[in-house]
Amino acid sequence: MLGRGDVCAPILFVGEGPGAKEDETGIPFVGQAGKLLDLALESLDFAPEDYYIANVIKCRPPENRTPLSDEIAACMPYLREQFRLIRPKIVVCLGSVASTALLGPDCKVSSVRGTWTERKGTHFTATYHPAALLRDEKKKLVMWQDLKTVKNMLSQLRDDHKV
Ligand code: URA
Repeated sequence: MLGRGDVCAPILFVGEGPGAKEDETGIPFVGQAGKLLDLALESLDFAPEDYYIANVIKCRPPENRTPLSDEIAACMPYLREQFRLIRPKIVVCLGSVASTALLGPDCKVSSVRGTWTERKGTHFTATYHPAALLRDEKKKLVMWQDLKTVKNMLSQLRDDHKV
């Protein structure tokens, strides 16, 4: 499965690539990091129909290493097609692999998280990858704040009847 969630959702979350559990089940973000993401989204009252979750890379790299640039390039057409079908109004990059792949090579998550870029009517932002929160508890509050800005952007777009 290339993603999970509502294909008509206004928000597209983009992670890095499948981990062990995702490889086993074929569903993105079902392991520990995914559970943390689900918990954060639930506690901020995102509805299941608000979002769809996909990955940059569609297969797990050997030893779970960071995907190489040619692997990212090989998978991008799939993500582009997902983008074309879902037509999200908001894209949230989870971690540096997604933020550099979608926003540009200088856009590491530490420098662009919490900021917004608009491209052709779609609003792009980034926050930490949920797996980073498992390694560093302090990032939890930061991600929470970033997700709150996503929630606010969604409300604003709804108020403006753009969603
Ligand atoms: N990490 C990711 O980036 N994607 C998943 O689907 C699971 C873990």
